[in-house]
Amino acid sequence: MANQFLSQLRKEHRGVMAILNQLQDGDGNKGELFSKLKQELVPHLKAEEKAFYPALMEKEGAREDTLEAFEEHHVTELLFKEIEKLPQTDERWNAKVKVLKELVNHHIKEEEHSVFKVAKEELEEDQFPAILKNFEKEKEKVRKRL
Ligand SMILES: [Fe+2]
Repeated sequence: MANQFLSQLRKEHRGVMAILNQLQDGDGNKGELFSKLKQELVPHLKAEEKAFYPALMEKEGAREDTLEAFEEHHVTELLFKEIEKLPQTDERWNAKVKVLKELVNHHIKEEEHSVFKVAKEELEEDQFPAILKNFEKEKEKVRKRL
């Protein structure tokens, strides 16, 4: 069950990176790609924060990595909102998207290496079904608000 949940996150990470790569390569309509990114990235971040990270925060051995992950989400969201407000014709738009991609890529790497590792070590197998269920529920909730 841990593996099922963690592979779901990995799959979503790949999806988000694919959109960010297309955006950076100018491969398609910027506006459409950016709204696709919003639909994928924002619910994913929020659902991790609501359904996954709190369980980790209860474990002493996972707190440090989880706190760092929370901060990376925070910075990612700040930059995301800034890009959202900026006209796509602004010359800084592409530069900001590039930095967003670097941030997200860094975060995904750390999450998949450190956070997933401590999650497997610190959480019980029987916690994962509820985590996965809540994760999906939270994503839906956030998607409806977007
Ligand atoms: Fe994350």
